Parts: sequence; structure tokens; C-alpha cells
Amino acid sequence: MHYLPVTRRVILGTAIALFAIVSLVYQSSFGLSSTLVSSSATSAACQVWPSCQGSSPKQLRYEDCRGISKSPQVGDVNSLGSPLHCLLASSRLDQYHSASGRNWTEVRWGQVQRRCAAHESGLSLLEGQSHQTWRRPAELRQTEAETLSKGNGDRVAVVLRTWDNYEYTEKRLSWLRALIVEAALQREGKYQVYFLVNIKDPNVDLEDNATYELFLLKVVPEEFRDMALLFNERTLKTWYPRVQEHGAQDQMYQALQIFSHKFQQYDYVWQLEMDLRFTGHVHDTLQSATEFARTQRRRNLWERNGRFYIPYLYNNSYDAFSSAVDAEIGDTGVWGPVPTSDFVSQGPQAPSRIKGNWGVGEEADLISFMPMIDPVGTNWIYEDGIHGFTESTATPRRAAIVSITRSSRRLLQLVSNAQRERGQWLVSEATLETFSLLHGLKAVTVPHPIYFADEMKIEKFDAEINKGPLHSKAGGYAPSMLYMKDGWQAGPWWKASYWFTAGAAAEMWEAYTEGQHLPPMLLHPVKEK
Ligand SMILES: *[C@@H]1O[C@H](CO)[C@@H](O)[C@H](O)[C@H]1NC(C)=O
Ligand SMILES: *[C@@H]1O[C@H](CO)[C@@H](O)[C@H](O)[C@H]1NC(C)=O
Ligand SMILES: *[C@@H]1O[C@H](CO)[C@@H](O)[C@H](O)[C@H]1NC(C)=O
Repeated sequence: MHYLPVTRRVILGTAIALFAIVSLVYQSSFGLSSTLVSSSATSAACQVWPSCQGSSPKQLRYEDCRGISKSPQVGDVNSLGSPLHCLLASSRLDQYHSASGRNWTEVRWGQVQRRCAAHESGLSLLEGQSHQTWRRPAELRQTEAETLSKGNGDRVAVVLRTWDNYEYTEKRLSWLRALIVEAALQREGKYQVYFLVNIKDPNVDLEDNATYELFLLKVVPEEFRDMALLFNERTLKTWYPRVQEHGAQDQMYQALQIFSHKFQQYDYVWQLEMDLRFTGHVHDTLQSATEFARTQRRRNLWERNGRFYIPYLYNNSYDAFSSAVDAEIGDTGVWGPVPTSDFVSQGPQAPSRIKGNWGVGEEADLISFMPMIDPVGTNWIYEDGIHGFTESTATPRRAAIVSITRSSRRLLQLVSNAQRERGQWLVSEATLETFSLLHGLKAVTVPHPIYFADEMKIEKFDAEINKGPLHSKAGGYAPSMLYMKDGWQAGPWWKASYWFTAGAAAEMWEAYTEGQHLPPMLLHPVKEK
């Protein structure tokens, strides 16, 4: 699914509120039947059971939902796929329920994914290989060239972050099965899904075979065991002895760094959380975000990343927004790597003249779904969270909340090497963003649609969520999306579809599973049981 040209869209509605229906009228010339059935076929190797059409893309039902989509206050409703075709929840989820007549618990999801990937790419992927690779003790680095080579994006891992006492309820199991089928099987084996399982007891010795086996049996349902990889703080300490922090919250990426070190076949790794839900097809949504990022030019990219895009203020055109940012920033934006004495930057050379389309078509090393802001001067609780850098808190940095990202192996290895060899580290939210900034790697905030319940006037809303300095408008002093040194700030974030405080994401997911049409969106967190 492709990122639609912005010129296709015209908004007529003016009232913008979470649960009010605002019609979007599209200058769309192509006719749509009321029910669209995906035509792509799946080879037998990518079906769960050779004789079962259940998980085939033919089962997916899309409906024409022009005029039904609401306009989000924030983000581009096209950035995650076409909002004209709404994928029905029932066609995705119902079949994976235990009452469906199929015994899903007998599936071995790792094996099925390997079968599909091997068939599609001609690779021989030995059964059980992933466990063996994961459990080999920490090795020293490969050559710099091997580690840092940039892939062509052909193989992508989707890593779900789970933990030992996660409850695998019926609804959650249906979602997880749908996610694996959509990500790895229905689009033929380019993505592969793994579970990275945090064992919370730091004293458990997972290097001991019997202990590892025992925990795997105890905490991961049988159907997912051959795609699950266990770790705990003890594992992270072994890898990163020069870093003082190994907790799940502040060092969310250490386990992912190890993953990308061990599974070098993946050029890119999506990190997803268990309470994230997609209202669009999982693979196609991630692919749309990837394409959005690929088409972004580098000029004033960090400055665009630093703000929320409010479509109402830009005639519903992300291009108009980009032009407005260019007009404000001129040639004063970040261009190439930001100088540092801490290491030699590894990104591509920036053209000498600040101009043109540098970066268009370049695969992004980092994709995030929230603005990447300058933490300096925010009063964020982690504002001073930087260790092992010569210039300490004067080091130029960026940070984005919510650790749902796609990162390249190259970026993860640069972070990994800095942590292992020099003890240089930041908190999770600032890690990938800061290393991208200092190395001059392409980092893109995808402006996905976010709905807010708050019906404040859009100009006031803009002033609240984009109140920072030009290079970091979503930042500034005490932005309401950050946890401050003195607690939460009141602000429009209270109830939103990608925010945790008032359950809007869960309400929207429930409405979606009961048949409501929604455009492709990310809903987070959804803690359904
Ligand atoms: C489903 O498969 C699992 C795992 O193979 C097995 O333990 C269970 O008995 C099966 N259930 C039914 C109802 O056949
Ligand atoms: C550890 O367990 C793995 C997987 O069950 C097995 O292949 C391997 O031989 C075991 N290693 C030792 C030293 O027992
Ligand atoms: C907004 O879009 C319409 C239709 O494409 C166009 O006629 C108008 O000039 C645009 N306005 C601005 C301010 O860009």
C-alpha cells in the first residue's frame, strides 16, 4: 500500500472532535466497490495449514469508508495507508479464537514463519536455529564493516516486547496470531516476528540450559516458544558492564541491541509493545510508515520531526506543512551530523549546499511515531540523563517518548558499541534519537493520525502542543506529553488515541472490534484482557 499523494485530499469539515463525525471528502476518481477483497494470493508455504484458507489474505475484508473517517487533530490520515479502505476487525480476529473450530495452540509459529521465509527467499533456515543463536554467549564484535554495513531493507524483524507474567488471554491470543499472520505470512515472508521476553528476576541464570528451558516452558505459551527469546538484567549486565543501568524502562533498547547483534540477517528491526493495536493490516501499516520515511527529504527533517503536524492548519497537506517549516527555518536547520568529539560520525556525507532533495529515497535508520524534541530546557525528569559523553549535558540531543520504533542494525550497533566500549548511554527515549543526530543518520517521525477528546479550539490546541522553540516546537518548557521533575502537567494529552491516561485507545479498539470503521491507525495502550 502506498503513501497517497497529499494533493488527493481536501477537507471540508471544520469541527474537529474525537467522537464527532467529520466527513472527509476526497478528490478521488477511482471507483470503489463496497467490499474490497484483497487479491494477493499466498503460496502454500505461507499458510498455517496447507489445506486451510483461514489465515489467507483472501479472508480479509475491506470496506469503502469514504465519508466515515473522522479527521484527526494531529497527523496525516494517509501516512499509515489509505483511509478510504477500512479493514474489518472481524475478518482479522474471529478466526483465531479457540471457538473457531481450529486448534491454534498446536501451531508452532516460529516454524511456520521460517517455512514461509525459506520458501519465499530461498534461504535454508534450520529449525531451532534462533534459540541456538540467541543462547550462544556474548561474542566480541565483528569487523566494523560487517557490523555497520547498511542493508537493502530486504529482511525485517518485528520484535514484540513481553515479560514473564504477561497474561495470554483469549483476546490477546487472537490478536497475537493475527499480528503474526499479517506481518509474516500474508505478505510472503519479508517480516519475521519474535518475542523478546523479559524475565524480571535478575538473579535467574539464563546461561544455564536447564534454567532457560524451565522458564521458557513456564512463561511462554507452547505455540510461541520457538519464536521467543528470553533475557533478564543479568544478561544485559554481561553485555554492557560499563553502563550503570539495565532496567527495562530506562534501557529498553539493550535487549534489542543484542538481538540485532545476533540476528545480522535483519537490516531493520521494529520494536512493538504488547498493548499496541493496529486498525489497519499490520504489514501494510508498517510498510506505509516505512515508505513515508523513505520519501522524506533531509532538509529541515529534524525541525519537522520536532513538531506536531496539525492538518487543519495546513489545508490538510503535509507538503504545505513542510513548506511552512522550510519558510520558518530557512538554511539554519540541522544539516548532516551534529559535531561531537565523542566519536567519528558514521552517516553519509551531507552535500555542501543546503538544498534540494538530499535524503529522498534513502531508507531511514530510525522511524518514530512521536516528535523528536530537544530535551534541553524541558524540565523533563530525564533532561539530564546522559552518561559518558565528554560534553555531558551540553551534548546536542533529541528524545521521543514511546519506544515503538523501527531502527536499523547499523544504528543499534553504533549504540551497542558505544555502550560496551565507552560506557556512553542515555535513557531509552533519547538513545536512538541522539545517536542518529550525532552520527548524521536519517531519522523520521511519521505523523500518524492521533485523535484527541479535548475539543479546544485548534489554534489554542496548537499553541499548547507546539509551544517550544523553532527547532523543537513540540518541546519547550514543560510540554504536557513529558513527565516533569515535579510531576505531570495538565494539557490536551489527557484523552487521546495514542496516550495512556484516559483509556481512549482501548475505547476505540473496542468500537473497532465491534464493527466500527476506522482508518489505519495505531492505538496505544490497549490493555484488553
Ligand atoms: C490442541 O493442541 C494442543 C497442543 O498440541 C493439545 O495439547 C490439545 O489437547 C489440543 N486440543 C484439542 C481440543 O484438540
Ligand atoms: C542446551 O539446550 C539446547 C536446546 O535444548 C541444546 O541444543 C544444547 O545441546 C544444550 N547444551 C548443553 C550444554 O546442554
Ligand atoms: C487549499 O487547497 C485548495 C484545494 O486544493 C486550494 O485551492 C487552496 O489554494 C489551498 N489553500 C492554501 C492556503 O494552500
